[in-house]
Amino acid sequence: MAAVSLAGKRVLLVVSGSVAAYKALELARLLGKAGAEVTGLLTAGGARFVTPHALQAITGRPLATDLWSLEEEAERGHIRLARSQDLVVVAPASADRLARMAAGLADDLAGAVLLAWGGPVLVAPAMNPSMWSHPATGANVATLMARGVTFIGPDDGPMAEAESGVGRLSEPPAIFAAIAAILEDPDHGAPDAALEAALDAAIAGITGEAEAPRAATTSDSSFTASAGPPAEAAAHHVPPNTAHASSFSASFSPAAAGNGDAASHAVAGTLPGGLPLSGKRVLVTSGPTHEPLDPVRYIANRSSGKQGHAIAAALAALGAEVVLVSGPVTVPDPAGVDVRRIEAARDMLAACEAALPVDAAVCAAAVADWRPAEAATQKMKKGEDQAAPPLALVPNPDILATLSRHASRPRLVVGFAAETEKVVEHARAKLARKGCDWIVANDVSGDAMGGDANTVHLVTPGGVEDWPRLPKGEVAARLADRIAEALH
Ligand code: C5P
Repeated sequence: MAAVSLAGKRVLLVVSGSVAAYKALELARLLGKAGAEVTGLLTAGGARFVTPHALQAITGRPLATDLWSLEEEAERGHIRLARSQDLVVVAPASADRLARMAAGLADDLAGAVLLAWGGPVLVAPAMNPSMWSHPATGANVATLMARGVTFIGPDDGPMAEAESGVGRLSEPPAIFAAIAAILEDPDHGAPDAALEAALDAAIAGITGEAEAPRAATTSDSSFTASAGPPAEAAAHHVPPNTAHASSFSASFSPAAAGNGDAASHAVAGTLPGGLPLSGKRVLVTSGPTHEPLDPVRYIANRSSGKQGHAIAAALAALGAEVVLVSGPVTVPDPAGVDVRRIEAARDMLAACEAALPVDAAVCAAAVADWRPAEAATQKMKKGEDQAAPPLALVPNPDILATLSRHASRPRLVVGFAAETEKVVEHARAKLARKGCDWIVANDVSGDAMGGDANTVHLVTPGGVEDWPRLPKGEVAARLADRIAEALH
C-alpha cells in the first residue's frame, strides 16, 4: 500500500452517523499519506461520533458540515464542493444515509453534494446486521448499484452492540484499496460537460438557486464529450464510465477483484434479499491448475484468478449462491462464496461435477491443456550424466466442454478464451467446439494475465459485443448483469 500514490487526487469523504465513524479518521490519514487532498464532510449524525476538529485536523483542510452555513456557502458552496472532486466516498454510510441517497434527498449538505455530483461514488456501509438485511436497505442498495455506485462491504464480524453479523464497516486499508483502484483506473470518470449542464438545471430546480456557469477547468481531470442526452443523464445521475445500460447494473468493490491484501475485507456477497440472482446457483472456475511432475515440481501458467474471483464476487453481489472452484491463487477468497480449492485439472473437473446441478457455469479458469503422463511419486533426481528426463504429456479433460455436454448441463454455460490475435474469430470457433452458450474472449496480448484490467468481447450465437478496456471488477459486474438477465 505504501507504493500507492494518490498525489493530486481530490477525495470528498462524507462521514455519516455510525459508531464506526472513528474509522473514517484512519481512512483520511491513509489517503493523506498517499498524497490525496481530502475534504471531510461531516453529517449531523457523523458529528455525534467524531468531532469536526478531529476530522479537520487529520485532513488539514476546511471541513464541510452545514448546507445552510452562510460562511461555508460563501467560501465554497455545495455545488462547487461537489464539482471539485475526483471521487466522493461515503464512509461510514449509515442505513439512513443509504435511504437518503437512494431517494435523492438534498436536505443537508451531504445530500445536496451527492445529488450535485456526477462522478464516481464509493460507499462503505456500516450498520446493525438486522438493518443491513432489511428489505428496505436491500432495495436502497440495489437502487444505488443500478446507478453505478460502487460498494465495499459491509464486513461480517462482531458489532459494537455485542452482536455479530454482516454490517461492520470495512477496515480502512480495504476502503483505501478500493479508492485507489477507482482513482488509478484511467477511465474513472469526472462529470462530463453535458451532464454538468443538466445537473445545473436539476439543481437549480431543487435549491431554487441559479448557479453561475462553471469553467471546465475547475478540475484537473479531463472532461469528456457528452455521453448521452443531458436530460436522461440528469434523471439517472449515472456517473460516466461506470454506467451500465442494463437493468441489473451492479457494481462491486474493485478491491474484491483481488487488487491487494486489503481486498479480503470487501464483502460483495452479503447484500440483502430481493436481488436479481436470488435463488440461483452458479458455478465459477478460476485460477490456474498445477499439474504435478513429482511431489515438488509442477506445470502451471500465469493466471492470477483475479477475473474469475471477481466474477464469483459479482454474482454473489447479485444474490446468487456461488460455488467457486479455484486453482492455487494468492488473491483472497470472495466473501459469501463457497470456495473449493483444487490443484490439478482432473480435481477441478471432479469438484465442478460435484457442484452440479447449477443454473449457470462460468469457466474462467486457465486450465492446463496437458499434464505429465506420469507424476513421479518421489522427487526426480538428476542422473550422473545430468541428462534431462523425457517429458511426456497427455491431454487434460476439458471442463468447459464436459459441462456443456453434461447430463445435468447448466442452463447457461460461459467460457473464456484468452487470445493474442484474431480474438473474435477464434472465440466463435471455440463457442461451437466447446458447446457452450457464450464465450468471453479476452485479448491477452497486453497485460490482461495477472493485470487489473481486461479488454473483452462477449461472443454469443446472436453476435459480438465489444466492451471497452475495464477494470476486472467492472467486467465481472457487467457479466454478472448479463447472466442475471439471461437466467430470468
Ligand atoms: O481451449 P481453451 O483453453 O482456449 O479454452 C478456454 C476455455 O475453456 C476457458 O473457459 C477455460 O476455463 C476452459 N477450459 C476448461 N478445461 C480445459 C481447458 C479449458 O474448462 N481443460
